[in-house]
Amino acid sequence: MKQNRILLIIGGGIAAYKCLDLVRRLREQGVSVRAVMTRAAAEFVTPLSVGALTNDRVFTDLFDLNDEREIGHIYLSREADLVIVAPATADLLAKMAGGHADDLASTILMATDKPVLVAPAMNPRMWLHPATQRNVKQLKNDGIHFVGPNVGEMAERDEAGPGRLAEVPEIIAAAEPHLANSPIARSVTPLHAKRPLTGRHVLVTSGPTHEPIDPVRYIANRSSGKQGHAIAQAAFALGARVTLVTGPVTLPDPEGIKTVHVETAQQMLEAVRRGLPADITVFAAAVADWRSATTSRQKIKKTGDRPVIDLVENPDILATVANLEAERPQHVIGFAAETHDVIAYAKKKLLAKGADWIVANDVSSTTRVLGGDNNAVHVVTPESVESWPQMSKDEVAERLMLRAAEHLRRTTAAAE
Ligand code: C5P
Repeated sequence: MKQNRILLIIGGGIAAYKCLDLVRRLREQGVSVRAVMTRAAAEFVTPLSVGALTNDRVFTDLFDLNDEREIGHIYLSREADLVIVAPATADLLAKMAGGHADDLASTILMATDKPVLVAPAMNPRMWLHPATQRNVKQLKNDGIHFVGPNVGEMAERDEAGPGRLAEVPEIIAAAEPHLANSPIARSVTPLHAKRPLTGRHVLVTSGPTHEPIDPVRYIANRSSGKQGHAIAQAAFALGARVTLVTGPVTLPDPEGIKTVHVETAQQMLEAVRRGLPADITVFAAAVADWRSATTSRQKIKKTGDRPVIDLVENPDILATVANLEAERPQHVIGFAAETHDVIAYAKKKLLAKGADWIVANDVSSTTRVLGGDNNAVHVVTPESVESWPQMSKDEVAERLMLRAAEHLRRTTAAAE
């Protein structure tokens, strides 16, 4: 059976050392990796150590005539299913966007007909520079795929912001769909076949709730259910048995997933309790905080009097489940949609509700998160805050479930 093959172009930057781990992990997954290093990359990691991990020779110079005769830059990329550029420096991005071909790496990138996945890493100011942003926009228009950069601390002291190389599992997760779609990979086991959530039960809440006032009126919110449904699908793709408890949405029920439809918060709580036990619960639903204390059996008429709706608080499903004694899931993930002070509120929510992680997002009117296809989230844990760049809700879901699978693996191993 043919292997998945990746051509990895390593750019020059402090993050280049992470490529060693990337190569190791890819090879563990049965992917063969051939490496090309720019001249600057060789200042940060040696071709010798990269070659030891790829178990192949490392290609470094376009003008190595022996290589040209034996293999050539065209073949280097033709032999691969996917080209990954990591770390992609500002200079490499500029070369790609400008169509330069003055060394082996840039020539391959000009000559390839394979999908290209770029993982940028650079100083935040270089990333935010209009020239880099222009290049990134151009490259995205050209069909180049991106993973990261992440927001966080930089290697330079006192530097923080967007520019950290995406983590190795994130790069692998971003690479996987391209391998699965490539003609060669179709016949071989995709990375997801490892399916780290196999044998696990994941329960997800999604969508808004509708709290009736009378037979025709209700209290609701703008949640579309896109993020929650995407999480359920990502967990299913990673091998989990999934229960999705959803409020009223216009999305179709995801295939292969047990979907329970509810209207109100109280019904959602009931359905969640019936769905337990679960290994991971993700509370992505935008549950209405209040419901009308009474529900009129008949439509409330305009009588001239100002109607008063008395509100009572709904049960907090996340807090209820996170505080269960016997049936508390191993990993409880909540969401926090805020319009300001997003991270500070998320930290408070983590403690107040007893969740393990809170995924916080900014839903102020400028972000177009509610109902939209993209999301920019901060993953808040008791130990850390990780800010992910803006990406599609599907990508957020996939990353989150990969992370949760890894967390579950670690906590399970620690408990044994
Ligand atoms: O308190 P707030 O609504 O901001 O909390 C958001 C988190 O709590 C989300 O994960 C949401 O699904 C969950 N939640 C819940 N039940 C409620 C209110 C919120 O499960 N009644």
